[in-house]
Amino acid sequence: MTENKISDIDACAFDAYGTLFDVHSAVNACRDDIGADADKLSELWRQKQLQYTWLRSLMRQHADFWQVTGDALDYAMGATGTTDMGLRTRLMELYMTLEAYPDVVETLEHLKAAKMKTAILSNGSMTMLVAAAKSAGIFSLIDMILSVDQVGVFKPDPATYQMAVDELKLPASRISFQSANGWDAACG
Ligand code: LAC
Repeated sequence: MTENKISDIDACAFDAYGTLFDVHSAVNACRDDIGADADKLSELWRQKQLQYTWLRSLMRQHADFWQVTGDALDYAMGATGTTDMGLRTRLMELYMTLEAYPDVVETLEHLKAAKMKTAILSNGSMTMLVAAAKSAGIFSLIDMILSVDQVGVFKPDPATYQMAVDELKLPASRISFQSANGWDAACG
């Protein structure tokens, strides 16, 4: 890993889920309907979602992140004894419009003011990422949305990070990658 000063950087690429968008905001919005297991359900949902991406990459059976997210929610609901299918539908809908973390808009505005190129590099499908970016009010602050669907494999396959280099048309050393997922930050 190399350390660059911000003046040596031309673009900032961001992971989406857990970095820009609060993955727990969906469950938070239905907390009263879920009850005592709300946090457990949300944690399991996220954990399984990531595990399924890694399994699918190893098995070379890529699927849309929407499918993976639904499969993971089914696991989490089963593990917490949640059977309300209306709640499942609502949680999936909410996943399309997750809240951004409170510092996201201001940070992106600063970067744009500094003439930095901004990108999202995510496992999410393009439909999911565009919907979340629009509802969180950051769509106009992002120059490029890159979905791993373009390379047909999930992070941390090297092809996913290479996509940012190819699409931004910049050497890796000129791109700063931000991710709240340690494994993602380390590999990117
Ligand atoms: C993403 C997941 C890893 O947005 O959070 O790619």
